[in-house]
Amino acid sequence: MSELVAAARAAREHAHAPYSKFRVGAALACADGRVFTGCNVENATYGLSVCSERVAVLKAVSEGARDFVAVAVCADTETLTPPCGACRQILWEFCGDVPVTMSNLAGKQETVQLSTLFPRAFDDSFL
Ligand code: THU
Repeated sequence: MSELVAAARAAREHAHAPYSKFRVGAALACADGRVFTGCNVENATYGLSVCSERVAVLKAVSEGARDFVAVAVCADTETLTPPCGACRQILWEFCGDVPVTMSNLAGKQETVQLSTLFPRAFDDSFL
């Protein structure tokens, strides 16, 4: 298991998911070797819940990191859990076409480019 996948898996342990019981971890690698992690953080008002991927991105960006080279996501599902649509848009904004490694607790994993998960993205090139 890569260091990044292990970081996503470890971050999942911190998930606050009492409503969905669906725990997710994410990890973001920077070009300089730093890794930022996130877990999903739910709320009793449901709609305020934030996915693990967005937590990782917002933590990283708020710490001044920008040069992201890879993303990992970990959930306890047989069919590997991909980032949701909103997270794909946020990942595209800050990471561009990085490899996204999806993984589960059984050790299954698959890496796909973000452009494959999120084709024909809207971004600042249209503005
Ligand atoms: N969730 C994530 O954190 N990342 C994903 O890739 C998929 C979904 C969270 C949101 C919510 O807390 C729970 O999983 C169920 O949707």
